[in-house]
Order: sequence, then C-alpha cells, then structure tokens
Amino acid sequence: QVAAASGHTVVLVDQSDEILKKSTKGIEESLKRVTKKKFADKPEAGAEFIEKTLKNLTTSTDAAAVVHSTDLVIEAIVENMEVKNKLFTTLDKFAPEHTIFASNTSSLQITTLSNSTTRQDRFGGLHFFNPVPMMKLVEVIRTPMTSQKTFESLMDFSKAVGKSPVSCNDTPGFIVNRLLVPYMMEAVRLFERGDASKEDIDVAMKLGAGYPMGPFELLDYVGLDTSKYIIDGWHSLEPNNPLFAPSPLLNKLVEEKKLGKKTGEGFYKYK
Ligand code: 3HC
Repeated sequence: QVAAASGHTVVLVDQSDEILKKSTKGIEESLKRVTKKKFADKPEAGAEFIEKTLKNLTTSTDAAAVVHSTDLVIEAIVENMEVKNKLFTTLDKFAPEHTIFASNTSSLQITTLSNSTTRQDRFGGLHFFNPVPMMKLVEVIRTPMTSQKTFESLMDFSKAVGKSPVSCNDTPGFIVNRLLVPYMMEAVRLFERGDASKEDIDVAMKLGAGYPMGPFELLDYVGLDTSKYIIDGWHSLEPNNPLFAPSPLLNKLVEEKKLGKKTGEGFYKYK
C-alpha cells in the first residue's frame, strides 16, 4: 500500500486469490482512512489518489512468474526460517541479477536467510511496523555481506515510501522488537502472577508512560502467534535468558487459536 501510494509499481503476491481479494479490500479500506485525513477538504483529489494508488497495484499467486520484472522483493510471509529459505531459493533462480531481496522478518536472522540465495550482497532487512500506513519507522538491517550500494538503496527506498529509516546490525529483534517484546512479555508475566489485571496494566502504560496502546492491546494488535514465534525463536537461541522465557498463558491462547484482533479474541474479545 505505501509503496503503491508513493508511485511504485507493486505486485502483491500471496497463496490464493481469496487471500489476495481480502488483502486488496483491506488496502482499499486503509487508503480511504488515509485519504479522509490527507484530503479532508478535497474529496475529488482523494478519490484520484486512491484510484492512482490502486492502478499501481496488481496481484499474483505465482511469485516465481512475476519476480522477473522486480527491482526489489519484500518478503513478509510466515515467521518460519525453512519456509522463507525455500521461497528465497526459488526466487533467486528467477529474479534478475540486480534485484535486491529484503525480508520483513520480525526476529529471524537476515544472514541465514541471505545464505539461501546466491545474492548475499544484494540482501538485507526492511522491517516495517503495524499499522504500516501510520507508523513512520523502518528498520534497515545490513548483514556483514550486504553491500554499501544495497544498504543505500534500501535506505533510499524507505525514504521514497515516506518513512524514516534507522539502521541496525543483524541482531535478534533489531532495535524495536529487542526492547518491545521483552516489555510485552514482562506485562504478561506480571498478569500471570496475579499482581495486576491486564486492564490496569494497559491503563498504566498508556497514562503513566504515554504509550498509545497498552501491552495487552498491542499484543492482540500484533498477533499472539507472531509474538509467540518471536519469543520461542529467541528462547531457543538463549534458553537461559529470563527475558526470552516463554509464557504458559500466551502458549495457551495460541493453542486455542485466540490470536488477537485478527481472530476476534486474544487477551481481549473483539466484535
Ligand atoms: N490504515 C490507515 N490508517 C489507519 C490505520 C490503518 N491500518 N490504523 C489507524 N489509522 C489511522 C486512523 O484512521 C486514525 O486517523 P485519524 O486521526 O484521521 O482519525 C489514526 O490512525 C488514529 O487511529 P485511531 O483513532 O483509530 O486510534 P489511535 O489514535 O489509538 O491510533 C494507532 C491507532 C496508530 C494504531 C496507535 O494506537 C498506535 O500508534 N499504536 C501503537 C502501534 C505500535 O506500537 N506498533 C508497533 C507494533 S510492533 C510491530 O509492528 C513489529 C512487529 O515485528 C511485531
């Protein structure tokens, strides 16, 4: 959405036409929200902006078939190293020489992902934040093998889509999640111990620390499955680090398919 809205030609790829239809509808709705604010006094210009943005966007269910015409691939699939590696190995065979590959992974090592391709110098991380149309940050991750040219291209691209990039080495969680995820897990542990209610913890962090959402609201917003993938991955890397300890409550909710806002229930219930 943000790439198309800033004039880039985008091919959105997913597994089925049904998912793509849902995604496109989500983008249209989000564009309407953005437009309502940006073109408050000029509804015609707003409608034109939406039309122009959607014209820049096509969809496909066959990544290998469309990658030949791309300068940049941004992968944002399931947080599973094996599945991501398989996709990158395939795309590497079909993509042009100059094409840069980037992963939007929240927690997996970019270096390992880049090793599934033959283009380690043209590989980096581009980590966006929910909700992407609103959040101004992008973390640009360089591995020891990412070339200076690739790094600069990723920084330039981030600016061209209207974001403010920061750079970080390829370390677990990069900057934001390395601080945010242990904080959210500590909130769950505080609740699990019965020391405070989740409602009070959320109110406390909003009113006492100025956060726009409390940790439980944010966990539900990000998705409990995503949060679990992140913490489980780090726990396997550093089993003795108490900040990365898994939470029985989070595990139980994920097992019950209560994944947060997207499934209608997580720590809270949604209509
Ligand atoms: N698309 C377009 N616009 C959107 C939007 C979306 N998906 N979501 C919200 N907005 C807009 C709304 O339209 C609204 O615009 P308005 O001011 O013109 O009315 C504006 O954002 C504010 O929205 P709301 O009034 O509904 O609610 P809030 O004031 O609470 O703002 C929020 C919503 C921007 C999501 C804010 O609560 C927030 O900043 N929350 C924290 C988000 C955060 O921490 N994100 C990082 C998560 S971690 C992550 O993503 C990393 C991953 O790897 C795990």
